Amino acid sequence: MTSLHNDRLLRAIAREPVDMTPVWLMRQAGRYLPEYREVRKQAGSFLNLCKTPELACEVTLQPIKRYPLDAAILFSDILTIPDAMGLGLQFEEGIGPTFAHPIRKKKDINQLTIPNPTQDLAYVLDAIKLVKKMLANQLPLIGFCGSPWTIAAYMVEGRANPGFPLIRKMTKTDPALLHVLLEKLAQAISLHLQAQIQAGVHVVMIFDTWGGMLDNQDYQQFSLHYVQQIVADIKNNEAVHKTPVILFTRAGNQWLELMAQVGCDVLGVDWGISLAEARRRVGSTVALQGNIDPAFLYQSPEEIKQAVAGTLAAYGHGSGHIFNLGHGIPQDVSPEHVGILINAVHELSRPYHTN
Ligand code: CP3
Repeated sequence: MTSLHNDRLLRAIAREPVDMTPVWLMRQAGRYLPEYREVRKQAGSFLNLCKTPELACEVTLQPIKRYPLDAAILFSDILTIPDAMGLGLQFEEGIGPTFAHPIRKKKDINQLTIPNPTQDLAYVLDAIKLVKKMLANQLPLIGFCGSPWTIAAYMVEGRANPGFPLIRKMTKTDPALLHVLLEKLAQAISLHLQAQIQAGVHVVMIFDTWGGMLDNQDYQQFSLHYVQQIVADIKNNEAVHKTPVILFTRAGNQWLELMAQVGCDVLGVDWGISLAEARRRVGSTVALQGNIDPAFLYQSPEEIKQAVAGTLAAYGHGSGHIFNLGHGIPQDVSPEHVGILINAVHELSRPYHTN
């Protein structure tokens, strides 16, 4: 791999010394940026934006141009896979994602075919190649996917419905059929992630946004099991196995030890746990990413800096921390406050990296 001008993220993942704690933010390219809203308008819809590599590349780079971030994350969405499976994805203003053909019956699931990433998701790979060219080895690029459980939750429900009652019912009424769906998704996601790595991303992240709604046993059998399969596929393929994997399960802090055992390199954590406790529990096996509550971005610059200081102090001395929010940037925060947070991470973290 060609060496990067800024390799803080990769060094923190490997728990090698860094000068400052690296920082990037979930949803760093998004509606809180006026320049994003402008390009989105031009694209006509969120999905068109994702499917036009030049525009996806442009919005991926927008936060990089504004702020001294330590990584870019590809602009795309976890629901591109079910879209490629033919479910008829749409993003409606104020409603979020909806599927014209949700998956509820045995027939629907049996008919699903696994997309070929180089054909059916070529626009994602093309966007990666463009971003890589534009980044010119300045920064690492993060690729991503959703977990099978999280993607299945949207596919079965057909929309973003809090609590996702239909898939939760299915865990009890037809677990065998649900496993067929999850197995197919695990294969599709695994292929897609490996194709993203082949196209050039330096790190991949698995978003398990809805794993935290399950009880302990169900989390392990319906979510973590399939994540483990995807990570194993990456680690067993010599062409991609060196690419680090970040696993983020929102509201999943009770399972940190289990997650650390699936072979991933980094665990993303939300604000439900202090980084001090998370590090005590898993710190010697994986790096940690997180974990400030995005709501701090609504506070004053002074309060934002205090929150950053508290998060850095909780992790403590040494490498292995990637600063992030515990979930995505809300759409109505001020871009100026986002900049204050990013600068504060760099300024305030230096003392934690001296010998
Ligand atoms: O983080 C980034 O900057 C990279 C791009 C990215 C998006 N979605 C862009 C997006 C990433 C990594 C995602 C992941 C994603 N998508 C997740 C997992 C992370 C999380 O948020 O929990 C999930 C659950 C989705 C599915 C999804 N996409 C939903 C439920 C919505 C609607 C809610 C919302 O925020 O509007 C989206 C739309 C979406 N994905 C937007 C962006 C920038 C907003 C689209 C717009 O209206 O312009």
